[in-house]
Amino acid sequence: MTYNKHDLYELCVQSPKDLVPLIRAIHGDNPMILGEDFAGTSALSHLWVERDGCTAIAVDLDAKALGFRGDHPRVTKNQCDVRAINDPVDVLFVGNFSIGYLHTRSELVEYLTHTRKRLESSGGVFICDTYGGESAYTLGGVHRAHPMPGGKLCRYTWEQHQADPTTGMVTNLIHFRIERAGVIEEELFDAFVYEWRLWSIPELRDAMSDAGFAKTQVYAKLADAIDEEGNAYITAVQDAEEELEESFIVLVVARV
Ligand SMILES: C[S@@+](CC[C@H](N)C(=O)[O-])C[C@H]1O[C@@H](n2cnc3c(N)ncnc32)[C@H](O)[C@@H]1O
Repeated sequence: MTYNKHDLYELCVQSPKDLVPLIRAIHGDNPMILGEDFAGTSALSHLWVERDGCTAIAVDLDAKALGFRGDHPRVTKNQCDVRAINDPVDVLFVGNFSIGYLHTRSELVEYLTHTRKRLESSGGVFICDTYGGESAYTLGGVHRAHPMPGGKLCRYTWEQHQADPTTGMVTNLIHFRIERAGVIEEELFDAFVYEWRLWSIPELRDAMSDAGFAKTQVYAKLADAIDEEGNAYITAVQDAEEELEESFIVLVVARV
């Protein structure tokens, strides 16, 4: 049996069901139109439109990833570069460190200027994630196991394979291994390979200001923000020493 890498990615890597309330809470009002850039399978967009009247615009270069979930009447999918779509949105999300596909500062500022224009008419919010802190440039893997139907287990490894603190360039890999009762059924080594510029929080905030955003903020401890009913309660970081862990994943936010 062959497993699809996008299925395994959605099982192990993403949690769009937590992201939807988090994005609404960070926006702070009632955003209806989501832009999901570097969308991959656009899992977030499909969940976003479950609320009546909401729509989503997903953009990705990869036709296979974008087509993976099929069509939805309220999700518009664009197979192109993120800078080619100009449609206005209320909130624009870039997840799983994809902002790192923009390797140079000029590309980053150009992209952020483009997103600001898409958000201008609604007074909207741009949100992206990044990681940093003590282990930002450490090589090695983080392993997790996720149960699958039929008593199987998907072992997932996120590996930082190369990391150069002098350029900010990192190579990250995702591997999957399917096991049943300790026996390996299938291995997808290097299922995803990412070559990213790891942007620091202040680099992102400076670029956002240069792109004309009025205000930037940082949101941390994302996992703690969701309660058992799936509601999100989160405020922007005020005291970094108190609120940031030694190694962290944060959302960096820019408001028009
Ligand atoms: C790490 S995946 C992120 C998927 C999804 N956002 C998530 O959170 O799981 C990055 C995606 O960005 C897409 N991509 C890379 N550069 C792009 C560009 N310039 N324009 C549009 N999509 C791009 C890749 O095809 C890939 O599907």
